[in-house]
Amino acid sequence: MSIRLSKPWLGDPSQLKRRLDEVLESGFLVQGRLVAEFEAGAAEWLGVRQAVAVSSGTAALHLSLLACGIGPGDEVLVPAFTFPATANVVELAGARPVLVDVDPESFNLDPDRLEAALTPRTRAIMPVHLFGNPAEMEAILALAGKHGLAVIEDAAGAFGSRGRDRACGSFGAAGCFSFHPRKLITTGEGGLVVTGDPALADRLRRLRNHGLDAAGAFQAAGFNYRMTELAAALGLNQLPEVDRMLAERQELAAAYRSRLAGLPGLAFQRVAGDSLSAWQAFVVRIDGRENRPLVAELKRAGVEANIGTYAIHRLDYYARKYGYRPEDYPNADRLYRFCLALPFYNGIPAPDLEVSARALADRLAGPV
Ligand SMILES: Cc1ncc(COP(=O)(O)O)c(C=O)c1O
Repeated sequence: MSIRLSKPWLGDPSQLKRRLDEVLESGFLVQGRLVAEFEAGAAEWLGVRQAVAVSSGTAALHLSLLACGIGPGDEVLVPAFTFPATANVVELAGARPVLVDVDPESFNLDPDRLEAALTPRTRAIMPVHLFGNPAEMEAILALAGKHGLAVIEDAAGAFGSRGRDRACGSFGAAGCFSFHPRKLITTGEGGLVVTGDPALADRLRRLRNHGLDAAGAFQAAGFNYRMTELAAALGLNQLPEVDRMLAERQELAAAYRSRLAGLPGLAFQRVAGDSLSAWQAFVVRIDGRENRPLVAELKRAGVEANIGTYAIHRLDYYARKYGYRPEDYPNADRLYRFCLALPFYNGIPAPDLEVSARALADRLAGPV
C-alpha cells in the first residue's frame, strides 16, 4: 500500500472552481484583487497589520533580509538543523549565516547558545519554528533586544502555530511563511511576509516587484517575487478551513503519540505547554537508529516516511565553504541522522496512520 504525504484538501471545491474561473475570465493573472484579498485575510487570521504575498517561502525570507538592510559584511544567526533555504537566503543576501546548534528535544534553535555566536558583525537572528513547533521567542527576542538585532522568523511551516497566544510569524520584525504543498495551506508555490512595520512592508512590496513604488517610480533593484492570482485563489479558498485543519492535526498527532509511546529510543518533538504546533510534519527522533536505512525499509513496506530535515553544516556547499565537520553541531547532527517524518496530512485515513505506526513499531521492537 502506498501512503501519500501530499495534502489533498483545497477547501470547498465549487468555491475554488468559481474563484479560478473568475481569474481566468478576468484575464488578470498576476498580483491583483485576489492577492490583495488573500493578504488581508491572512493578516486578519494571524492578527498582524501588514502582509505581503510573494512567490515562495524562500522569496519571503530573501526579501525580509534585504528589506531589513542585511548584506555583505553582516552575520545572521540561523539554526544548524533546518531546511537549506534558511541559510541559503543569508548567503544570497551576501551575508554570512552563522550556525547555532539546536535543542535535541524541541528541534529548534537553542537560545542558550546564541550569545556565544555573537560577533560585532551580527545583525539578525532567524529562528525557525521547525515542523510548526514554536521557537522559544521570549528568550530570542530578549537577546535580540539587548544587542539591537533584527529577528526574522522562518515560519515557513508554522502557519497556524501559536506561542503564548500570539501567532508564529508575528513576534519579530518580519515573519515568513511558505505555501508549498507540504504546508498546512498551499498555493502550489507561494509565500507571505508579515510585519507590524508599514515602512518595512513598503520596502518588501517594492522589492517583490522590480523595485517599483506605489507612485510608479523604480526605487530599487528589485526582483519578480510576485504571487499569481491563481495561487491567491487557492490560498483564499483554504483560509476558512484553517481552524478545522489545525484541530484535525492535533488529533492526528495525538493518535501517533498514543500508538508510538514507549518504543525503544523514540522521542517526540517537545512542544512547550503554552504553545500550539500546527504540526506541519510529524517528526520523531529515534536514537541509535539511522534514519536513511529505516526510511528505505519503510518505503519498501509502502509507508512514505522521510528524514526530518537537513543539517546545514553537512551540506556540501557549507561544509566546503566554511570547513565544517559533522561534530561541530552535535545536536543538529544527531537530528539529521536520527529524525524520521511519518506520513502526515489533513485527511490521512485512520487505517493508513495505523499501518504507518505499526510498521515503525514492528521495526523498533526487534533487535536494534
Ligand atoms: C524551514 C523552511 N524554510 C524555508 C522553506 C522554503 O519555502 P519554499 O519551499 O516555499 O520556498 C522551507 C520549505 O519547506 C522550510 O521548511
